[in-house]
Amino acid sequence: MSKGALLLVVCGAPLASRLGDGVRAARARGWDPYVIPTDAAIPWLPDQDLADAPVVVGNRKPTEPRRTPTADAVAVVPATFHTLNAWATGNAYSYPLTTLCAALGSQTPTVAVPYASQELTNHPAWAASLAVLRRSGIRIVDPQDGSPESVTPINSGTGAVKNFRWEWVFEQIALMPGS
Ligand SMILES: Cc1cc2nc3c(=O)[nH]c(=O)nc-3n(C[C@H](O)[C@H](O)[C@H](O)COP(=O)(O)O)c2cc1C
Repeated sequence: MSKGALLLVVCGAPLASRLGDGVRAARARGWDPYVIPTDAAIPWLPDQDLADAPVVVGNRKPTEPRRTPTADAVAVVPATFHTLNAWATGNAYSYPLTTLCAALGSQTPTVAVPYASQELTNHPAWAASLAVLRRSGIRIVDPQDGSPESVTPINSGTGAVKNFRWEWVFEQIALMPGS
């Protein structure tokens, strides 16, 4: 039996190149995955096998029906500096951000994998946003070791994309009430 709809929000950072693995891992665990890319993530998608998962881009037309079912769980992988800060401040100006803000507001089980360099994470908004999201019930997973406790900045050339394991995300989703 299906576990339901898993909305996979993907932002514009190199870990977006592992989206295809995430779609297949979701299916293998019984989820129905829907891909919701930010505009900045789109350049990472064309070379990937997304196993025919629906890819939902931009806002729907007012006359168009909804393109995804109600989410049973949400994962944002990777979560860029921009999206994470916008989400934490309630900025919903794009479809991916609206999806994330609605997930938080409806207490839908949601996991985020932040992915940003030290230069960006040194900005004080980063720590504040992580704190807001954690306090709101979002599970934050370290992109380099899967820890739910802390987030380390990405240094290029350290193999973070290759070493990332989607099971870190699914383990956290499974621990959340309602998933
Ligand atoms: C090749 C490339 C790599 C990038 N890597 C990162 C990154 O690791 N983390 C990050 O926060 N932004 C990164 N960016 C910048 C984001 O793509 C940019 O801030 C964008 O506006 C994010 O939009 P989004 O949050 O809507 O996806 C990268 C951009 C490019 C072109």
